[in-house]
Amino acid sequence: MSAVQGLFISFEGIDGAGKSTHISALADAFTAQGRAVTLTREPGGTPLAEKLRAMILNDAMDALTESLLIFAARRDHLSCVIAPALARGDVVLCDRFTDATFAYQGGGRGFDLEMLSKLELWAQEPQGLGHDLVHELGKKGAAPALLQPDLTVWFDLSPEEAAKRLAGARVPDKFEAQPVEFFRRVAQGYANRLALDPGRFARIDASQAREAVWSSVHQVFTGKGWLS
Ligand code: TYD
Repeated sequence: MSAVQGLFISFEGIDGAGKSTHISALADAFTAQGRAVTLTREPGGTPLAEKLRAMILNDAMDALTESLLIFAARRDHLSCVIAPALARGDVVLCDRFTDATFAYQGGGRGFDLEMLSKLELWAQEPQGLGHDLVHELGKKGAAPALLQPDLTVWFDLSPEEAAKRLAGARVPDKFEAQPVEFFRRVAQGYANRLALDPGRFARIDASQAREAVWSSVHQVFTGKGWLS
């Protein structure tokens, strides 16, 4: 078991909000301070979850099927990558996590939020993820019922601006091809998640220039004492 406490950080935002460069910059910043970093993403992060990702992003399916596949990928990712990394004391930087499911499947596709909450409880319950992780959560005083990020950085950008940034960038996947109204609902989904658990979120104004966005992100981490 590690003496260093693991940190679980997720990154969210609508497609085009520009989170990727900041996630890698944070990985460099933590590494420079001697922390071990696990950089990962959802859906995906394990061989099985990456196979599921390809289906989720490309194949048409009803919203329950999609949600079940997403949570199946998440459970595999938690048990094979995230839980062991947290038990080792790593900083886990995860490009999207469960808030994306509430925002995209719940908000965007209008799927039943209560059903998503049930799936979340099943997929993210820490028992069975290993003794070390349950112990780590206990040290943090976290409710052992549900594994959640310590911090979620939400890159908030208007759907119109995101669409401009995405235009012509690459061949869009199933979600990226959705109209602006879909992303308005996704953004509202994120806002609703923040309202339910404001202490877990840092909202970043992603409409600023890239350097200003980075300095906002960096300030969040120095403010928490996680980076100097
Ligand atoms: P994204 O994270 O934007 O990766 P890339 O930058 O490689 O496109 O793509 C993942 C897509 O999956 C994104 O459109 C949001 C969607 N998604 C969901 O719909 N639900 C989820 O629970 C997650 C994690 C992602």
